[in-house]
Amino acid sequence: TGMFTYDPGFTATASCKSAITYIDGDQGVLLYRGYPIEQLAEHSNFLEVAYLLMHGELPTPTEFKAFEDEITHHTMVHESANSVIKGFMHDGHPMAMLISMLGALSGIYHNDLDLDDPEQRRLAAIRLIAKVPTIAAASYRHSIGFPKSYPRNDLDYASRFLTMLREVPSEEFELNPVAAKALDLLLILHADHEQNASTSTVRLVGSTGANPYASVASGVAALWGPAHGGANEAVLKMLKEIGKPENVASAVEKAKNKDSGFRLMGFGHRVYKNYDPRAALVRKMTHDVLAQLNVNDPLLEVAMRLEEAALKDEYFVQRKLYPNVDFYSGLIYKALGIPVEMFTVMFAIGRTPGWVAHWLEQQLDPESKIGRPRQVYTGAVSRDYVPVDKR
Ligand code: CMC
Repeated sequence: TGMFTYDPGFTATASCKSAITYIDGDQGVLLYRGYPIEQLAEHSNFLEVAYLLMHGELPTPTEFKAFEDEITHHTMVHESANSVIKGFMHDGHPMAMLISMLGALSGIYHNDLDLDDPEQRRLAAIRLIAKVPTIAAASYRHSIGFPKSYPRNDLDYASRFLTMLREVPSEEFELNPVAAKALDLLLILHADHEQNASTSTVRLVGSTGANPYASVASGVAALWGPAHGGANEAVLKMLKEIGKPENVASAVEKAKNKDSGFRLMGFGHRVYKNYDPRAALVRKMTHDVLAQLNVNDPLLEVAMRLEEAALKDEYFVQRKLYPNVDFYSGLIYKALGIPVEMFTVMFAIGRTPGWVAHWLEQQLDPESKIGRPRQVYTGAVSRDYVPVDKR
């Protein structure tokens, strides 16, 4: 093994330098470009955060207006790409559709994409932030047999998405500002998280010189797994299965038993060995939003009892396992009328500015090179081929 450091899961390897996001996992601190997540959650909005992640500074009012206008200008998706979604079975997972559609966008844009031109790189980033919600809504509508809806560019980012998602042909969709605000806040909390599996994937693919649409498509694929963004969907399925507070204790026991193959979804984190600051914000928000929307979801009680039981259990205390961002977010998405299959897609919408900010940063990094880890070989030593009739 001598020559290389063996580091499965890269727990001790910094793969790049980055000035975008800072996490102190022991203290439960998260900063985007130096700004605490709590302050951004309270005062900012998702597009402003997207600007901040991409550019490094908060925008002036003029810069913000120009950025918002540009995003709004790029919300439409080329008609030819829609046949990609139409090719899916109705029960095809919307994450599969999102990955495919980003592949389709790379087909549409890569021919005239000059990655050496900073303006073209920026435009690709804008297009991705603008189009991902349109694609997400189209994939959901395909799954329920609805015609696609077009982005309403008179609305803000979150309201536009909710309208595209829910709009019923021939009926006016009534937009609830509480719902739009809640969604915007969740998107802020998901916008970046330094070198998580999907962002590292975007950078690894980006390091080969692949185009940003293809790079982000692979990030979405990495996000899908239940150990990463897929956890929010898994949490809600778990809460439904637990069903009532009386069943919480046995779920906790099952999660402690390694042979059960069951983990408490929405619990634990590679970096946070303290309460995930995003989870703290989502937890508080869940109570407020459900109350404001007049939603009485019995699963909230199950989630609270589950958190309480786990946080005082020796197994979880010893391993410093706390709720992560995915633990409560599903309850809010559910209250907003977003179906459970869409939860990880929602995470992808939120994480897109982070992915493109990292891709942009990587393009400017003089120390960036192709990502190419080594391995510790454990196979056979050199041996001679044996013809088939001699085996
Ligand atoms: N339930 C029960 N036991 C757990 C859990 C859990 N959710 N998470 C970790 N453990 C145990 C694990 O078995 C191990 O025990 P031991 O030391 O006795 O072998 C110890 O805690 C450390 O876990 P690990 O798997 O070595 O930690 P990791 O850093 O490799 O994995 C994780 C981090 C997030 C993949 C893991 O905690 C997990 O599977 N959690 C559930 C899925 C989840 O909620 N994922 C969302 C992550 S946050 C947002 C995102 O990225 O999408």
